[in-house]
Amino acid sequence: MGNNNKTIYIETYGCQMNVVDSETVMAIMTAEGFGRADDALGADVVLLNTCSIREGAEQRIWHRLDELAAQKRRRPGMVLGLIGCMAERLAERIVAERPAVDIVAGPDAYRSLPMLVGEAFTGGGRGVNVELSKEETYAEISPVRLDPAGVSAFVAIMRGCNNFCSYCVVPYTRGRERSRDPETIVREARELFDAGYREVTLLGQNVNSYSHEEVDFPELLRRVAAISSLLRVRFATSHPKDISDRLLETMAATPNICRAIHLPAQSGSSHVLERMNRRYTREWYLERISAIRRAMPDAAISTDIIAGFSGETPEDHAATLSLMREVGYQFAFMFKYSEREGTRAAQTMPDDVPDEVKTARLEEIIALQNELSLDSNHRDVGREFEILVEGTSKRSADKVFGRTSQNKVVIVPRDDLRPGDYVRVRITDCSSATLQGEII
Ligand code: 5AD
Ligand code: SF4
Repeated sequence: MGNNNKTIYIETYGCQMNVVDSETVMAIMTAEGFGRADDALGADVVLLNTCSIREGAEQRIWHRLDELAAQKRRRPGMVLGLIGCMAERLAERIVAERPAVDIVAGPDAYRSLPMLVGEAFTGGGRGVNVELSKEETYAEISPVRLDPAGVSAFVAIMRGCNNFCSYCVVPYTRGRERSRDPETIVREARELFDAGYREVTLLGQNVNSYSHEEVDFPELLRRVAAISSLLRVRFATSHPKDISDRLLETMAATPNICRAIHLPAQSGSSHVLERMNRRYTREWYLERISAIRRAMPDAAISTDIIAGFSGETPEDHAATLSLMREVGYQFAFMFKYSEREGTRAAQTMPDDVPDEVKTARLEEIIALQNELSLDSNHRDVGREFEILVEGTSKRSADKVFGRTSQNKVVIVPRDDLRPGDYVRVRITDCSSATLQGEII
């Protein structure tokens, strides 16, 4: 202890897993007596939880680090730390080039943060721990939710990644795949439900390969969904190569497992998929889409797409557009390929699509997805859905928003609805981003 008056602020970049990691770090630090600060300005400890997935993500963090270093010159007592993927990847460079940074800790080193922070306060020099672990899952730590009045929370079920997609830095920053003890997962989800949460999203880089002793992913989903029919269960992310019929059967048989599957395709060209080391073809992917549709005709499917990967030809790009049309995605995250040092692609495949071609292809992909999202939303007009209310609409204080099982946002009149309520609605209108509804 001895930290009773000290406060900590954590700023989170990157993926949903990083959100949980920040909440886990907050749990570790509050257990040591630290209080939570609302912003970086007055906090005794400021941590940036960082992302390396694309060059742009890292650029933003370098800039933010410069701002915080300037702040630290005015407030020399502040302890500044970099944690997460970029800390793992660039520890040496950060230490060499950014003297304002006191602490560098990778994704498996968060239990050592109280010690590293303590040393920084007592002038013990700069602390670095970027050791990756084969076992660490922070299993018994209940994250301190950064949105305490929330309806929806993330629960990490596994860490790391063994897939080695040729473009991706994650296997290097987060280490080998390992699954968390299912009992701790179910306990955490039950505690969230008892605290008023009505939705959990089970997180892993590749949830379909979850495996802990006799429990596989469908079994884990079944156990979490059995906590209450009022608890919605979502999950992300699924790798197309391992999305099994058993998973689809479990979903179809369990109404509170949401009808939404995020199934990143990355490309519609088998040739590009091969170079990406995705280990499926376009045909395999489309067969899995058919399997989803057979099991759950009302399921929404979303994706991630990369434009301009090494060697991508105009024909490959056209194949991506045609795949998008064929699947009719409800939603997509779309990116330009960003070469990451140390990956197989960076070592063996030239980043040979010119930036202006990447930009043009990405724009086409985004324009098509807007069209597909609008089509998908139009089809919902007139239909009825149950939504879980999350909060007040950003546009209008007398409206609330919630989500359908398919993960679409619906805006409805407030009535006397409160966050966490379920209500049946009929869709009356839509844009490409949201649905408007009336209560029925
Ligand atoms: N360049 C561009 N996008 C990438 N992604 C992962 N690595 C890269 C990269 N080097 C995208 C993939 C992945 C999502 C999380 O980020 O689409 O699914
Ligand atoms: Fe970014 Fe990937 Fe690390 Fe998440 S796992 S923080 S997306 S690099």
